[in-house]
Amino acid sequence: MKMSLSDKKPTEDESLKQSKKKQKKQDAWKPQGPMDPFTMLECLPESKQQEIQKALHLFSFGPSLPKTLQQATKHTYRFWDTQPVPRLGDSVVTHGPIVEGEASVRQEPYSLPEGFSWDTLDLSSPTVLKELCTLLNENYMEEDDNTIRFEFSLEYLKWTLQPPNWLAQWHCGVRVDSNNKLVGFISALPADVRIYETEKRMVQVRFLCVHKKLRLKRMTPVLIRELTRRVKQQGLHQAVYTAGLVLPTPLSSCRYWHRPLNIRKLTEMSYPGLRQNMNLQRALKFNRLPEETKTPGLRAMTKEDAAGIHSLLQANLQKFHLSPMLSLQEVEHWLLPREKVIDTYVVEGEDGTLTDMVSFYSVSSRVLNHPVHSGLRAAHLLYVASTVTDPVDLMEDALVLAQSKGYDVFCALDVMDNKSFLEKLKFIVNDKSLHYYMYNWMCPNMSPDKVGLVLPN
Ligand SMILES: CC(C)(COP(=O)(O)OP(=O)(O)OC[C@H]1O[C@@H](n2cnc3c(N)ncnc32)[C@H](O)[C@@H]1OP(=O)(O)O)[C@@H](O)C(=O)NCCC(=O)NCCS
Repeated sequence: MKMSLSDKKPTEDESLKQSKKKQKKQDAWKPQGPMDPFTMLECLPESKQQEIQKALHLFSFGPSLPKTLQQATKHTYRFWDTQPVPRLGDSVVTHGPIVEGEASVRQEPYSLPEGFSWDTLDLSSPTVLKELCTLLNENYMEEDDNTIRFEFSLEYLKWTLQPPNWLAQWHCGVRVDSNNKLVGFISALPADVRIYETEKRMVQVRFLCVHKKLRLKRMTPVLIRELTRRVKQQGLHQAVYTAGLVLPTPLSSCRYWHRPLNIRKLTEMSYPGLRQNMNLQRALKFNRLPEETKTPGLRAMTKEDAAGIHSLLQANLQKFHLSPMLSLQEVEHWLLPREKVIDTYVVEGEDGTLTDMVSFYSVSSRVLNHPVHSGLRAAHLLYVASTVTDPVDLMEDALVLAQSKGYDVFCALDVMDNKSFLEKLKFIVNDKSLHYYMYNWMCPNMSPDKVGLVLPN
């Protein structure tokens, strides 16, 4: 029998090297140091942990992922440089896939270091959904200094992760074998997307999350590779995703805008981005909203409105270079009001036709270690489409409704035509950007007002 290269018996030296390499791989995600520093940290009261985290954030000069394009040019993307994404700095004029779909897709899952296993999460099980909720709520931080943390509800996760045609195998988790703890997650949702003139079935990637104790150990590339493999198995080869950091290569870079609603609370919390030059009384006066909405015919969406909204959105989304092509069922799923998850309002004309719509979803957060406030509720603008009502009036009504429902702040991206009302309605621009990316697709970059897609995280 012939012996292949890999069958050759290794020399003693090679064996030693191999076993060291194997050990290194097995140890890859183990906490470093003689005593687990995380255990030590967790013994401290939360307020102490908080102080340490704030101090680390303040004095952190270590290597961190680039938040600006300028920083990105100096960063080496060990993983992303191996992926079919445009290179930073390339000016792209063509449209199309970067690599053509392979004839065969890898059958076996990507290997994890010893002690960890893949788990396809069955989100229809309340226990599993709760586990995912805990992972995200404890590890999906909102502010780098860990002062505000997302608090996703079970209902919210069902809404974002189970749209029509969702697939269980795209809810991809990583567990620790010894205690079955969920420590990593990434997901994909099927979506028809129009990018410039091309209409494509692809996935939207959501909720990439790695447990705090396993950060900076290169778990992310493995999660992304495995999800990509599972998506390719279903014959899809493109993805759209967003991130706050700069990766190769943003298709568009957008900014967050915030409109304070509960001024007193936000001032007490020193909410980032509030106008600094105003005392509370002035801020209350400056941000005061009407008591009631003013658009005649404005009302909450019902199931019967789905078809009307579908046509309104289809016409409106045509204007943009990147937009979802929503089916009727998807319109129902994404927009039909659900308590503390999604609100949609329509304007019905006298003849019964729907002329305008606006929707916003709910993002709750936990405020850590504040003497008075423990939670924050933000409304995030999803879609607004108007054919009759002035968008400024429609959005002002949305602010009034959000305030009456107890939201503290209203957030919007400067995508679509949102710039037409942001400043007029006293939204304040935030220093945070949100970058849009596409996997395995090459096309020219676009300005935020050409983006017609919002991906709730
Ligand atoms: C985002 C997160 C998973 C990254 O984990 P990490 O431990 O810092 O990174 P890892 O060591 O596992 O992997 C590093 C690689 O992942 C890439 N990466 C990090 N965050 C990424 C993101 N949000 N999207 C895509 N790639 C990302 C890095 O660029 C790096 O690749 P590179 O060498 O090509 O630069 C982790 O910080 C986390 O769970 N954060 C909280 C939730 C969150 O912010 N999710 C992202 C929403 S967009």
